[in-house]
Amino acid sequence: TRPLRVALLGCGVVGSEVVRLLNEQGRDLGARVGRPLELVGIAVRRLNRTRPGIDPALFTTDAEELVRREDVDLVVEVIGGIEPARSLILAAMEHGASVVTANKALLAEDGSTLFTAAEKAGVDLYFEAAVAGAIPIIRPLRESLVGDEITSVIGIVNGTTNFILDKMDIDGAGFAETLAEAQELGYAEADPTADIEGFDAAAKAAILSSLAFHSRVTGADVYREGITDVTSTDIASAREMGCVVKLLAICQLSEVDPAAPDAERTVSVRVHPAMIPRSHPLAGVGGAYNAVFVESRSAGRLMFYGPGAGGPPTASAVLGDLVTVARNRLRGAPGPGESSYARRTVSPIGDVVTRY
Ligand code: HSE
Repeated sequence: TRPLRVALLGCGVVGSEVVRLLNEQGRDLGARVGRPLELVGIAVRRLNRTRPGIDPALFTTDAEELVRREDVDLVVEVIGGIEPARSLILAAMEHGASVVTANKALLAEDGSTLFTAAEKAGVDLYFEAAVAGAIPIIRPLRESLVGDEITSVIGIVNGTTNFILDKMDIDGAGFAETLAEAQELGYAEADPTADIEGFDAAAKAAILSSLAFHSRVTGADVYREGITDVTSTDIASAREMGCVVKLLAICQLSEVDPAAPDAERTVSVRVHPAMIPRSHPLAGVGGAYNAVFVESRSAGRLMFYGPGAGGPPTASAVLGDLVTVARNRLRGAPGPGESSYARRTVSPIGDVVTRY
């Protein structure tokens, strides 16, 4: 039987780890799928960077040609950003490939175009790695909890800012040096402005709230404030009050109005630094770890916790998706598409009093 052929777009912190794991564990992964997986090409911007341990013959600068290759079954996109990622993903789907992406910015800005294209082509679009690194949170919202009514999702979804705030809290470290350390550890975005100004968390909040509330929320709908104005004095004052400062993504469904129980419920989504009591489960989330606290009508309170950034954790989520879409493909049955969307009004602030 012919192997399932995989094309990789991007070979940075996450992409190179995906290649390393495919090389090391490819046989096991193929066994889990029921068919070998073969990496047939890696699209990069420049060929002159040395990438130890990777067969140089796999590299190409022609991503468009790679995604249009007839023999490519699965495309993994870890380039990030809007273009050329969007065009490449759309071309891959048109050519019948299933797609795994870690691209939160693109999903938050124009996810509906991607979902529509996937549906039309009858292929999968999976994106567990787009939110909170290794933590399984997309599948729980998209599948496990889809029969419940989720009322709020509160998350620490940016590892870089959590790393910085945590260090400022523990040892009074300076902002710039801690950011540099986060960059060295491969947590930060190519341009760390996206992390510290909250754009990365806002994109993730848009994705989480779209799934949780069966709604369509884009990054632009999210009220956003980063951590650049948080001072060591703020952190010390929070400490005196028994609190800790965290950059939170807060996604809430408005409560049912007893006077108008059939009225449309609205969604509010915001990202900003917040003080939370040290007794709250989110307060103990340190380093580049992420956590997502979900409240739903029947399940109650759930907490998802784990490494939220960095090459290996994010690659773990990518490979989980890769095995899943490969299995779906062999069965000829794509996984869940876009659920039918309620047209909810999105208000960026909503109920500013959040009860922790
Ligand atoms: N820059 C992101 C973070 C990477 O720090 O969380 C994971 O999306």
